[in-house]
Amino acid sequence: MIAFRGGFHGRTLLGTTLTGMSQPYKQNFGPFAPEVFHTPYPNAYRGVTSDMALKALEELLATQVAPERVAAIIIEPVQGDGGFLSAPVEFLQGLRALTEKHGIVLILDEIQTGFGRTGKWFGFQHAGIQPDLVTVAKSLAGGLPLSGVVGKADIMDAPLPGGLGGTYGGNALSCAAALAVIDAFEEEKLLARGEALGERLRQGLLRLQSRHSQIGDVRGTGFMLAIELIKNDQARTPDADLNQRLIDEARKGGLLVIKCGVYRNVLRFLAPLVATEAQVDEALQILEAALARVLN
Ligand SMILES: Cc1ncc(COP(=O)(O)O)c(C=O)c1O
Repeated sequence: MIAFRGGFHGRTLLGTTLTGMSQPYKQNFGPFAPEVFHTPYPNAYRGVTSDMALKALEELLATQVAPERVAAIIIEPVQGDGGFLSAPVEFLQGLRALTEKHGIVLILDEIQTGFGRTGKWFGFQHAGIQPDLVTVAKSLAGGLPLSGVVGKADIMDAPLPGGLGGTYGGNALSCAAALAVIDAFEEEKLLARGEALGERLRQGLLRLQSRHSQIGDVRGTGFMLAIELIKNDQARTPDADLNQRLIDEARKGGLLVIKCGVYRNVLRFLAPLVATEAQVDEALQILEAALARVLN
């Protein structure tokens, strides 16, 4: 399998193997599953274009593993733990074309992006591509535990009856909650709401960035937004310490945010899509006050 540097895919042995972050997820674990390769994910802020990332993948196929030996490529359309990097449309389209050419299964991990967080049901819809398999979880059942794999029939029907399952698989209460979540999405127009809240938050974060050079980047898609904190220098040196102090200060003010990014210097916002405009504005005020305190 091929996965991406900076990707996060969970904590089972294969999940940690697929994950492209040595800290904290792979630290003190191992040995990992064999024959999993990692390739660069596009990162406009750090100079990795779609073209460069596609070329690196082609080089991997030429030097490390021949395409006919690759079962699947797994990717997050917006890297979550890896720092809220959005894969550009042309990158996802290039990846789809390459996987189709070689008969490689394309898996979209939508566990963090899925269910409306990027303004569409799924992140891959921004690129107009069709994956072969999609993973879903988190907001799927509005907080009740439920995860799933959705995919093309020939793959999904391949295991024999009983070949896939688990003690908690198909939990009836969680399934009912997921159906109610889908109704709520439609009735409360949560996709459009997430887009609008995201735009409001993005504008507020851009205003903060214009006043503080330590906010190197404001990025994300829809209501899945983050800021990257850097030292005040040309190299855009990641500042994980500033990030942690800001998160702690924000918490004291009543705002819960968490870190991400391979250098742990990215602060991410994952507010519910049912948040109000007033709450987004309040979050921005708390963040601004916290920033003023940590920078003084
Ligand atoms: C993109 C992505 N994939 C996989 C996982 C792992 O999910 P789980 O903890 O349910 O195995 C997560 C969890 O944060 C995630 O964000």
